[in-house]
Amino acid sequence: MTIRDLVLYPNDVLIQPTIEVEATSEDTHALVQDLVDTMHNAKGVGLAAPQVGESKRVCIVEFEDELHVLVNPRILEWEGTPEADEEGCLSFPGVYTPVERSPKIRVKYQTPEGDDIDREVEGFLARAFQHEIDHLNGVLFIDRMSALRKRMALKKYRKFLNRRNK
Ligand code: NI
Repeated sequence: MTIRDLVLYPNDVLIQPTIEVEATSEDTHALVQDLVDTMHNAKGVGLAAPQVGESKRVCIVEFEDELHVLVNPRILEWEGTPEADEEGCLSFPGVYTPVERSPKIRVKYQTPEGDDIDREVEGFLARAFQHEIDHLNGVLFIDRMSALRKRMALKKYRKFLNRRNK
């Protein structure tokens, strides 16, 4: 069990695109286990490899007791009118802000067993997959906010960090 340090904003690793990995390799399996341990410890519902300092195309989402491990994921289609709902991010503790996301996406990825998946997801899962896959492209949820919301979110974040560092 390895709980890794969470990379907090701002950090270059959070805004760099990631590289694809071999789904079934030992390195990938070890990274997935670290992501799961680190996410559980932080009580999060999703985590992407750059958030533990690794520029690799791997992320996880946990929803309704089911763990989704996405290796080399790509979103193929976005469907429906984007809807706003509150999001948080383990790289931005203390911030919960509405972000617009498509209610339904088609996504392809590999499992750690090497299976190729091509599926549609909607609702919470669609939102969480978009948030985590954005991380793998160096895109953060503040990049999806209006200028005003982004300013407010960063202000809240700095306040949270100041309080925590006291
Ligand atoms: Ni995040």
